[in-house]
Order: sequence, then structure tokens, then C-alpha cells
Amino acid sequence: MSLMTTIRANAIKLNKCIVLPEGTEERTLKAANVILQEKIARIILLGNKAEIGKKAIDFGLDFIEQARVIDPLDNPEIERYAHMLFEIRKSKGLTYDEALALVKDPLYLATLLIKSGEADGEVAGAMNATGNVLRPAFQVIKTLPGINVVSGAFLMLFKDNPYVKDNILVFADCAVHPDPNAAELAEIAVSTAKTARAIAGIEPRVAMLSFSTKGSAKHAFCDKVIEATRLAKEMDPSLEIDGELQADAAIVEAVGIQKAPSSFVAGKANVLVFPNLECGNIAYKLVQRLAGAEAIGPVLQGMAAPINDLSRGCSVSDIVNLVAITASQCGDKK
Ligand code: ACO
Repeated sequence: MSLMTTIRANAIKLNKCIVLPEGTEERTLKAANVILQEKIARIILLGNKAEIGKKAIDFGLDFIEQARVIDPLDNPEIERYAHMLFEIRKSKGLTYDEALALVKDPLYLATLLIKSGEADGEVAGAMNATGNVLRPAFQVIKTLPGINVVSGAFLMLFKDNPYVKDNILVFADCAVHPDPNAAELAEIAVSTAKTARAIAGIEPRVAMLSFSTKGSAKHAFCDKVIEATRLAKEMDPSLEIDGELQADAAIVEAVGIQKAPSSFVAGKANVLVFPNLECGNIAYKLVQRLAGAEAIGPVLQGMAAPINDLSRGCSVSDIVNLVAITASQCGDKK
């Protein structure tokens, strides 16, 4: 069974409710129809009810009537959500009137539906830039206890690559936090190991990547990775993690034995944690294009409830898959 088939089957079992703030957008509506038909999740669509109804008829989407539809611009509960937002953000200087205006923005309303327990997770980004999807999530949903930084992992799927056991590697952070310090990098490692276990279904062996292996180079950048490795072990003593390691020492058995002979991870790593976003984002795109790996993600990790961001070039099936992943993350909230 393919990984996505397993994730979809898991989502069906969990029966979570996912809010789609871009509810009038064509690909989102078509994806919602598939999700409802296959019972991957319950769905809340945000948008004008008449427009959603008309598009559902025009596109022949028979299952859309099963979705709960909320119009952010004609919402009888607007004051309840505005009060919630005001309470959450007043310490940051937000006024009630500003909150009242913000809850008309579907991206804010979606996070408040999660906060109020009406939805379990959110998928957006077919029409909105990453920053606009993430900012309300950071402000309203915030991070899991013990985690201060949200990051983005990619599940990299390979076909018979000699360096990849089980045909999968998990890369992070490839999407969110531009320049993590050592403590933040440690959190990213711990979060990514969790994602690897919960979503990719593998037992994580985490390599903290650098341009140095076990002291072969001396630089403040390497020191950051060494310190992050130490802190990650402190956060989760059961974690199989090692660093600093170069990429070849991490995934090539012969190189791992040569450069880091006492390491349990070197040569066998299946989770690669990059020292910053530049490295992670460039690496996943190069591996996707040059090695022909399928890149699933970014799967956002570390948030107190799962919210995931689509690429604006996404397809209907990308949305269906990300909703299934998001629903699966709800199951892993604890
Ligand atoms: N984790 C948790 N909270 C965060 C994070 C984070 N990584 N980053 C910011 N925050 C919080 C801040 O603490 C702040 O909270 P507060 O208002 O309660 O104090 C709030 O979010 C806003 O913080 P800003 O510093 O104003 O964040 P900003 O909105 O400027 O930027 C953003 C956040 C948009 C995620 C920025 O870090 C960014 O642009 N990252 C890169 C995203 C990107 O372009 N990725 C590559 C493309 S994706 C791809 O290729 C797959």
C-alpha cells in the first residue's frame, strides 16, 4: 500500500473536522467533494453560501451539501469570535474593533473555529501566500507545550534509491523558520522525529546536518549543530539522533563507518535536519528535481493544532492529500 493510501485510511478512521477557509475556490471545492465522498474528514467551508451552492451545482459536486458552510461576512456569531480573538491578542495591543474586523478574514476565522473546538485542523494556501496562512495560526493557535517554533517537514519518497531504506526520508525545516538558533534547531529535530513516526510511519534516526562530521571542521555554524544535538537529546533522551554529520556520512553506510564509526545514526539516517531554512528549502527542491523524489509537504509541525499550507499551484489531489495528512496529525496531537 502506498504511503498516501495508508494516510488516507488513517484519516478515515479518525473522522476529524477540517476547515477550508478558501471555500469558494474551485480546486478547494472539488477537493472537498472528494474528501466528503470518501469520508476522509468532515469539512467546514468558509465563504458565501450562495456562491458555494451555485459552484457545487455548476461543477456537479453532489457531496458539498454535507459540508458545514460559514460565511465570514454574514456570520451571526461574529461577536463571539471577535471576543475570543480580542481575549487572545489584547496583550499584544489588539482592540475589540480590530478583532471584529479581523474575524471577517476567513484565515483568522478558521483558526478561531479550531480554538473553539468546532474544527480539528485547517488547510489553506491555494489562494493565499504562506505568511498570510501562518500568521493567524501563530497568533491564535500557537505552539505545542515545550515547543516554541513551528517548522515544516517534507516526506521525500524515492523509488529504489540505494541510499534510502524503506524508500522514504523526512527533511526539515524546509518551509518556515529562516534562521533557527541551537535551541530552536533542537525543537525542529524533536518535532520532525515525531512527524516521521506519526505520518511517515518510520522509526526515526535523526541526522543533524552540517558541513562537518564530528569535528572535521571548526566553525560557529558547526558549534550550533553540535549544541542543538545535545539539547535535542535532553528534550527526548530516547531519540536516536546524532550530529554534526555531513550529508554523505548521514546516509551512505560506507562513509558513515569511515567518518563516524561510533555513531548509531551515521550511514542509516532517515530524518535529515538542516541547519537553516536556506539549506532545507534548497535541498528538498534539488532532491525532488534531480533525484526524482516525490515531495509531500510541507507538513507543519509544532503547532498546537494542525494547520497546513498549500502551494498556490496545488492540484485537487494535493488538497485531498494535505487534508488527509492534517487529519492524521490531529490524531497525534498529544
Ligand atoms: N513558530 C512559532 N511562532 C512563530 C514563528 C515560528 N516559526 N515565526 C513567527 N512566529 C510568531 C511570532 O512569535 C509572533 O507571535 P506574537 O505576535 O504572538 O508575538 C507572530 O508569529 C508573528 O511574528 P513575526 O515575526 O511578525 O512573523 P512574520 O509574520 O513576519 O513571519 C513567517 C512569519 C511568515 C512564517 C516568516 O517566518 C516567513 O516568511 N518564513 C518563510 C516562509 C517561506 O517563505 N518559506 C519558503 C516557501 S515554502 C516552500 O517552499 C514549501
